[in-house]
Amino acid sequence: MNLPNMKEAQKRNITPTKYIYEERIKSDIFKGRKYSIKTYGCQMNVHDSEEIKALLESMGYIECDDYEKCDLVILNTCAIRENAHDKVFGFLGRLKHLKKTNKNLIIGLCGCMAQEEHVINEIREKHPYIDIVFGTHNLNELPSILKNYYGKQDIEVYSKEGDVYEFGNLYKRDSKYSAWVNIMYGCDKFCTYCIVPYTRGKQRSRKSIDILKEVKELKEEGYKEITLLGQNVNAYGKDLDGEIEFSELLKKVSDIGIERIRFVTSHPWDFTDQMIDVIASRDNIMPYIHLPLQSGSSRILKLMGRRYTKEEYMTLYNKIRTKVKGASITTDIIVGFPGETEEDFKDTLDVVDACKYDGAFTFIFSPRENTPASKMEDTTSLSEKEDRLQRLNEKINSYSKLSNEKMLGTVQKVLVTGISEKDSNKVCGYTENMKLVNVEAPKDVIGSIINVKILEAKSFSLDGIIEE
Ligand code: SAH
Ligand code: SF4
Ligand code: F3S
Repeated sequence: MNLPNMKEAQKRNITPTKYIYEERIKSDIFKGRKYSIKTYGCQMNVHDSEEIKALLESMGYIECDDYEKCDLVILNTCAIRENAHDKVFGFLGRLKHLKKTNKNLIIGLCGCMAQEEHVINEIREKHPYIDIVFGTHNLNELPSILKNYYGKQDIEVYSKEGDVYEFGNLYKRDSKYSAWVNIMYGCDKFCTYCIVPYTRGKQRSRKSIDILKEVKELKEEGYKEITLLGQNVNAYGKDLDGEIEFSELLKKVSDIGIERIRFVTSHPWDFTDQMIDVIASRDNIMPYIHLPLQSGSSRILKLMGRRYTKEEYMTLYNKIRTKVKGASITTDIIVGFPGETEEDFKDTLDVVDACKYDGAFTFIFSPRENTPASKMEDTTSLSEKEDRLQRLNEKINSYSKLSNEKMLGTVQKVLVTGISEKDSNKVCGYTENMKLVNVEAPKDVIGSIINVKILEAKSFSLDGIIEE
């Protein structure tokens, strides 16, 4: 990389940075350069990476899955639990070595970890080989960050979220059949254990007109399925002066007529009766709901700041089960929250027994810097927490198998999305209620919705044959 040419910049009466910027645009230097992105974390990050890819390709970059051949490697990071941090720095260690042979390699870091002050300090002090850092609020600035980069570590992270900016339907999407559609950014809930409100900022809903336009375009492009995305998707619109709420948005999206509509993640506190009615009455809104419980103990739920009790959660759960026929319901559970006793944990097992979830993501509590829960007294040993996690997982897995067994002999509509990972002679896809199915079928069914008779139920997937 060349240092700024001061004289040339002075001649043109512009800053050295601007000079580099203009020169680079003229010389088209990014054309044909190879990039790769490694994505950690939730669907937000997966979708953000689709935006980053589109930005890079608009500059002339080409995607390449071999890091060793790349000119640019970006890590889109997650901060939800401590182990996310360890994984990222483990991988960065490998990239650092690559720099010995590939001197022009640019290493970039973005995503939720980039919004953590202690991570930025650590990067400044200990990781000079990380070249560019940008945050969740300014990923659209990546092209100008790259154009202005001249070999000196550049950290461009904003602590405050700006307004929602419209990227349009320009993403380089991973799938041609199923698309993510952001409907909101950030989260206002501030659950006491969670870092997301700090890394993603306050809740900002997109205008419904922009969302509907994007969904219409996706339908015209041949997409069969869209998933409306948000950390707290059913709080949609609450920051738009009550102009529209989530159940209304769902109706409007459903009216567009795209085959399948999904949404993640719903918070139990924002789950309204209107929402249940809309889901139950529309064929193209899929009967699959992710309804994080976090804990079955009302005492712990209060400490978590979740705004519902065990009883309120159960009432909601039963209402959904009764009204939305054939629905799958999955959940997230944290064990070992500070102060969780065996009694509290048994309350969680109770709820699991009552709900018989179709599946669940389970975690051991991980203290996150500056969150209220990280300052709460925690006397439970790690081995006790691991034991609870294991007991919980055994229960979860047995119910998940049971719910899969209920599908045996039924005929399900499956949107085929690709070749099966387990068996390359099979294709795979998802039922309306989000069960993974492997099917022996010709590859040309990929991208269409086919009828499949379910013949075998495993813990985490189903097997079936095409039903004409
Ligand atoms: N917005 C979603 C989930 C966000 S994060 C919701 O409100 O449910 C995904 C899951 O990670 C959470 O549901 C929670 O179960 C888990 N999680 C979040 N913070 C955690 C922490 N500090 N320790 C352990 N698990 C955590
Ligand atoms: Fe985190 Fe709670 Fe917001 Fe979910 S609702 S993102 S758990 S603060
Ligand atoms: Fe992780 Fe950020 Fe998502 S912390 S879970 S990538 S919002």
